[in-house]
Amino acid sequence: MNRAQLESHLISIRRHLHQYPELSNEEFETTKSIRKWLQEDEIDIRRIGLSTGVVAEIKGGKPGPIVAIRADIDALPIVEQTGLPYASKINGKMHACGHDFHTEAAIGAAYLLKESQSELNGTVRIIFQPAEESGGGAQKVINDGQLEGVEAIIGLHNKPDLPVGTIGLKEGPLMAAVDRFHIVLYGKGSHAGIPQSGKDPIVAAGHLITALQTIISRNISPLQSAVLSITKIIGGSTWNVIPEDVTLEGTIRTFDNKIREEVKSKVYSIVESIATAFSQKVEIGWYPGPPPLVNEKTVTEIARNAAKKHTLNVIDPAPSMAGEDFSYYLYNVPGTFAFFGTNGNEEWHHPAFTLDESAIIRAAYFLNESSRELLNRHFTS
Ligand code: NI
Repeated sequence: MNRAQLESHLISIRRHLHQYPELSNEEFETTKSIRKWLQEDEIDIRRIGLSTGVVAEIKGGKPGPIVAIRADIDALPIVEQTGLPYASKINGKMHACGHDFHTEAAIGAAYLLKESQSELNGTVRIIFQPAEESGGGAQKVINDGQLEGVEAIIGLHNKPDLPVGTIGLKEGPLMAAVDRFHIVLYGKGSHAGIPQSGKDPIVAAGHLITALQTIISRNISPLQSAVLSITKIIGGSTWNVIPEDVTLEGTIRTFDNKIREEVKSKVYSIVESIATAFSQKVEIGWYPGPPPLVNEKTVTEIARNAAKKHTLNVIDPAPSMAGEDFSYYLYNVPGTFAFFGTNGNEEWHHPAFTLDESAIIRAAYFLNESSRELLNRHFTS
């Protein structure tokens, strides 16, 4: 296949995936399709212990290390509103984060690597990871032993606000750690006109919201980044009754594990102090998500050179406060995660999210070139 033929093939199979999106851990048809497309090119598929996802391998003709490419394959519970002729045919599900793009870019890289398999100085393992959105997919892949022997890893995410032909590569933190919390204040209900007979959880919640906002503004250096957002409050049922309890939910985003821990402990101490001050009992649920995504220096440099070789415009991207479970791989092996320009008209997770398909072939060549370069450099940490 020449470049134009490969491009039109990748676009057509990406449109197929786009029409049949599947949610985290339910990627059964997607898994079948990926296997079929790889097998058509006689690419080896590894045995895995997961019910969805695919791990392929291209063993080079020459000895050398193993490096990995990772793509995620799942979609979101969103009703698509793009009006595209190949829009989702599954109501309420949509590839609104462009993981179909990542899948096809990795398949394209697999085809390109396969073409020159005999010249490869080692092995390229390609991980089509399930369940990025719900979290847990990367950990499952790692627990299944699919990272064993891997010396370096690369991955990418489409980036709607970057033009096609631009790639963002950055050493150090690129995406945030994601923590979720759930707080319940249990007071004592009463007549709204006789507050002294109750313990008002709404007033306590008001103080709590204000105090929690001071964690970032008063405890974290203005030169560091962190966000605390309270996104949900439930409490009360009518105008003349002080309720029994109030529930608050929210999220914290940080780029540094030390700050992540500091913010968490400050949340606990503020919640407990305010609860005591307002005679509330309190319950705190803490749900840690992926750690911060921190790119390794040398792999990032190798990827930067590979990008330039394919005439991509390399920029130093602004970090994103979104989370990404690629970070778990980076806790095990050095690697880099790139932002790939796709000139979309909406941000990730929007019902009208689109991307420019001409970026797919560029991403395939970039992944191919970077993995080859990592093999040649025999990258070791
Ligand atoms: Ni995504």
